[in-house]
Amino acid sequence: MQKIILLLWISVCIHAQGNKSFILGQSLYEKTCISCHGAKGEGNPSIHLVVKPKRLNASLLTQAQAIKMIAKGSHYWGAYSDIMPAFDVIYNDEHIEAIVQYMYSSFPTEERVKKITKELNIVITPLTKQSKK
Ligand code: HEC
Repeated sequence: MQKIILLLWISVCIHAQGNKSFILGQSLYEKTCISCHGAKGEGNPSIHLVVKPKRLNASLLTQAQAIKMIAKGSHYWGAYSDIMPAFDVIYNDEHIEAIVQYMYSSFPTEERVKKITKELNIVITPLTKQSKK
């Protein structure tokens, strides 16, 4: 009985932790990203930028790739523009992971990415691997 209570307690804690991170991610996303990427990751096409912000709800990046892109900005990540700034100057790893957790649970998940890439029959190689060549 005690073991069951302990297990229940642990799972409540894990859930609460996940929730806390989701709420943090949501608030940071709404503060920082929404103006360019939209509330549901749909992008903001009317924004006056040379390179339009990507639609995050159609992104093919894995969570690990998205974390890197957000931390280091689009230029570092290999994009032509540097319109998307590096966010590791204002956010730590925990913040960025929370934002990505929020994005991937509110917008499509990696399962959807896998489905899209399978439908299109394309293979995505992370840029970090490509640049090692
Ligand atoms: C000033 C506008 C701007 C802000 C603010 C901004 N982004 Fe971006 N973001 C862009 C642009 C522009 C691109 C496309 C870059 C390119 O392809 O050159 C992009 C690309 C991305 C991508 C890559 C998507 C893909 O599939 O390639 C991710 C992930 C991303 N942004 C997440 C975020 C998050 C999370 C935040 C908030 C912390 C944020 N962005 C804030 C403009 C912005």
